[in-house]
Amino acid sequence: MHTKLHITPEDDLADIDEIPDGSEPRSRCRYFIEPYGQYGINEVCEANYYVGNRVPYHEHLSGFETFLVDGGALEVLTLSRKAVARKGDIVHITPFTPHSIHSIEDNSIWRAFHQGLWLTKFMIEERDLRDRHWDTFFDPEFKRDTGERNGSKWFDYALPECEDVAPDKLPCLRPYDFALAEYSFEGITLRLKVGRWETLGAKEVWQLFLSGGYKLSWEKTHPYSLLYDVFSGSVRVTLENGETFIANARDLIHIPKFLGGEIEALEDTVLLDPGCQGYLTRFMDEVNHLKQKEPAKLRDREHIRAVMRKNDYNVLFGSL
Ligand SMILES: [Fe+2]
Repeated sequence: MHTKLHITPEDDLADIDEIPDGSEPRSRCRYFIEPYGQYGINEVCEANYYVGNRVPYHEHLSGFETFLVDGGALEVLTLSRKAVARKGDIVHITPFTPHSIHSIEDNSIWRAFHQGLWLTKFMIEERDLRDRHWDTFFDPEFKRDTGERNGSKWFDYALPECEDVAPDKLPCLRPYDFALAEYSFEGITLRLKVGRWETLGAKEVWQLFLSGGYKLSWEKTHPYSLLYDVFSGSVRVTLENGETFIANARDLIHIPKFLGGEIEALEDTVLLDPGCQGYLTRFMDEVNHLKQKEPAKLRDREHIRAVMRKNDYNVLFGSL
């Protein structure tokens, strides 16, 4: 288990070839956080692809994949259609969604926030197998890309020619500006990228736009771990144990439960909250109701805190 609270792109736990087909250049996958909890959330790894790298056509029988494209461009192929995902886009793959990925630029970065997949554990096992059995590993008789393994079905054919469609025409692709729901307050805009109904109830995925100087805070009673990906900008994190650090773009902030703290945007910053276990959608909907029907209560901090507690969401926004 990664115990670091501030994880930079250099802080990987393991470095693995993701598509070890013997060709060069190889893709590279780095592993940052092991999954945990009832739903096995927040398994974070990152693949770096070169032009031509392909993830074969497959689907998962259980487990969810949420990807952030953090550089380059990749084609996402599913159900005979394909669209290009670019930096800042989110791709959310639910079980039984067949999919394939083709990198169309070098240095395409595919940062994954898995749920219930334990994928990297499998990849480490496979790496060890490959290292011990190099001669037979690429033998077709080995059938490593057919049949069921690791809770996934890998098809033994490539996806045929796909129709090009706009990014918003693939249900699994959530472009940077896309929102299932959007809420704005002074200094902060929140966009829902993946709803709880798309994660078997485990979590929500949010994109937070913070103006410079904006603060988020939570108390030591916070019952969930917090994970933020700094997509752009920078923040100062101050924790009640005295630890403080500055997180820049591409860093991860991983705070264990029951450790209070605060995040302050040092400039205009975009955070991704890929493992939001609290019911932020319910909280935002109720706040929206107050905004329209009982605006005076919006300025009552105690009332807002009560609404947060009721909806099991515990991160306080500076403007609420
Ligand atoms: Fe997949």
